[in-house]
Amino acid sequence: MSTKDKVLELLQKSEEYISGEDIANRLGISRTAVWKAIKSLRDNEFEISANTNKGYFLNKGKDIISVYGIKSFLKEKYKENPIFVYDTIDSTNWEAKRISMEGAVHGTIIVSDEQTKGRGRYGRAFASKKGKGIYMSMVLKPEFDIYEVAFSTIISAVGVLRALKKFTTEKIEIKWVNDLYINSKKICGILNELVCDIETKNIDFIVTGIGININACERDFDDDIKDKASSLQIHDFVRNNIISEIANEILDIFENFDKKQILEEYKNFQMLFGKEIVYEKDGEEYFGIAEDISDDGGLIIKKDEGYVTLNSGEVSVRQK
Ligand code: BTN
Repeated sequence: MSTKDKVLELLQKSEEYISGEDIANRLGISRTAVWKAIKSLRDNEFEISANTNKGYFLNKGKDIISVYGIKSFLKEKYKENPIFVYDTIDSTNWEAKRISMEGAVHGTIIVSDEQTKGRGRYGRAFASKKGKGIYMSMVLKPEFDIYEVAFSTIISAVGVLRALKKFTTEKIEIKWVNDLYINSKKICGILNELVCDIETKNIDFIVTGIGININACERDFDDDIKDKASSLQIHDFVRNNIISEIANEILDIFENFDKKQILEEYKNFQMLFGKEIVYEKDGEEYFGIAEDISDDGGLIIKKDEGYVTLNSGEVSVRQK
């Protein structure tokens, strides 16, 4: 971790001014090194107030997403992972795929403050306004069998849920397949995309794209989703911190993959169990009670005539 990252980490975690001397002592560096690090952080748009008596204070209200900021909250073992941060981009998933084609490594993180062509599942658009949310993608190269690839969907949902639980006291639930909800409204959508070799059945890479509404309000959503979408509604958040926690959790799950445990956690947070749901198959609408998750992540639905398992698709609670 560079001196600059260490200084930033201290400032980010501090609720009050810290003197240059204190920073120097805590990090075992010279006052000049502290001053240089502060200057470089300011050059990177961090707003750091200086007071001759009290020292330095990072204005967290600005909440700037930055490589240094993300890195400062990443676990030591992930600090060298490549991180790319953009002010604006078409879609972080597109960018993740572009750089993966050129050899991006497992654990690469791509984040943008806004997306001009944010993409949701089934070709839908994903509203990605500047400063309103987190729009991030991760390049993942797990040693999974191609037949287990559906599990990446479960992993990403559990990873994001674990991370977000650290920032809100609200109950977060998973709506199969991998949307996250608070109070029956969607706050996060995940788009997993796969590039694989059909001949060898090898996974080249998976791109996990995560979109979270952090402080978006009604007028920030398109008309068709206004009633269904919400946001984390947290204050004093540091997006760098949330992004890092998500990356930490997802990478940890891949590192010590315990299928049984992840599946259990995924089931424990399902919001549809016991509810009557609507699903579509071959253009027809069907109803049933969402009952369980199969070992490979499918939704088990109880019907009068028996059970069916949905392995993909969209479901919603039946409105009567
Ligand atoms: C959905 O709800 O249908 C999935 C939404 C996924 C949105 C994220 S935002 C970051 C990444 N880049 C994209 O273009 N989409 C995903």
